[in-house]
Amino acid sequence: MLSGVKPTGRPHIGNYFGAMRQFVELQNDYRTHIMLADLHALTTVKDAKQLKRDTLDLAIDYLAIGLDPNKVTLFKQSDVPEHSELAWIFDCITTMPYLMRAHAYKDAEAKNKELDAGTFTYPMLMAADILLYDTDVVPVGKDQQQHVEYARDTAEKFNRLFGETFKLPKAMILEAVETVPGLDGQKMSKSYGNTIPLFAEDAEIKKLMMSIVTDSASGRPENVYQIHKLFKPVAELDKLYAEKAGKYQALKEALIEDAIAFITPLRERRATIAAKPDEVITILTNGAGEAREQAKLKMTAIRQAVGLDL
Ligand code: ADP
Ligand code: TRP
Repeated sequence: MLSGVKPTGRPHIGNYFGAMRQFVELQNDYRTHIMLADLHALTTVKDAKQLKRDTLDLAIDYLAIGLDPNKVTLFKQSDVPEHSELAWIFDCITTMPYLMRAHAYKDAEAKNKELDAGTFTYPMLMAADILLYDTDVVPVGKDQQQHVEYARDTAEKFNRLFGETFKLPKAMILEAVETVPGLDGQKMSKSYGNTIPLFAEDAEIKKLMMSIVTDSASGRPENVYQIHKLFKPVAELDKLYAEKAGKYQALKEALIEDAIAFITPLRERRATIAAKPDEVITILTNGAGEAREQAKLKMTAIRQAVGLDL
């Protein structure tokens, strides 16, 4: 199994329930690689200090939610240059029209005319991340499904052109948390400014949750319910929402209480880990060493397959 998140700011509960939590649950069942996708972050972050800070922060976040460095290879993408090397090879077997069909590219293009080439070829770097480690499953949120399909297509195309080299990976998506809604009811996303940070302080949780937009078309405040569902079993939740039907303030207060009970221990764990940044860096250095060993071996086979060796 392999997955990753970009170090682009504080993770939110959508990232956690949609993707990160699964990493922790699956680490016992799979040989696992978890990446800090700092090269991918460069498509949006153009500030060295910020990237460094966010990368270290994300490593701390991963450890705080329970990733165990003894079970998981936790590493920074840019520490393994084979990712960039393989991405270039994939760029050379991929067509422009195919990349132009990627949702992420289409969305970015609709917003920004001065699009960088990295955003355009983003799926090929992600394919390299996945395929270098003979990955079978890639746990991600629904919005990343297409990228995993691109990785699979790219593996097939490479195998067809150069002989059997890559395994065909599959996305793993938790149906129940396909898309966590944000404060405004759209998909929760850093880019929409509608998030509830995973390690938020109590006061911040209260303030943000009180601002959740209440849409009651279905007879209950749907956004509040959908977010609450992350913190409480559905049977208990339905009982509560039936008892307090129409009482939005009380429902939000119940949500706040449940969210704080969930988040507080995570936040405390995070503070303990953050106090020892040197240990976190050592974990990443060791992780990079492990990942690189495997990536180098695979890259040797890839170079042979395409004729880059003499
Ligand atoms: P953001 O949209 O906030 O920038 P990312 O694109 O960095 O989030 O996503 C990191 C991971 O979290 C991905 O696997 C993504 O699918 C998942 N994810 C992000 N937002 C949500 C959400 N609202 N619901 C479920 N999963 C999400
Ligand atoms: N593109 C992913 C995101 O935006 C992050 C990512 C980079 C990733 N490389 C990956 C996810 C490889 C899974 C596997 O969230």
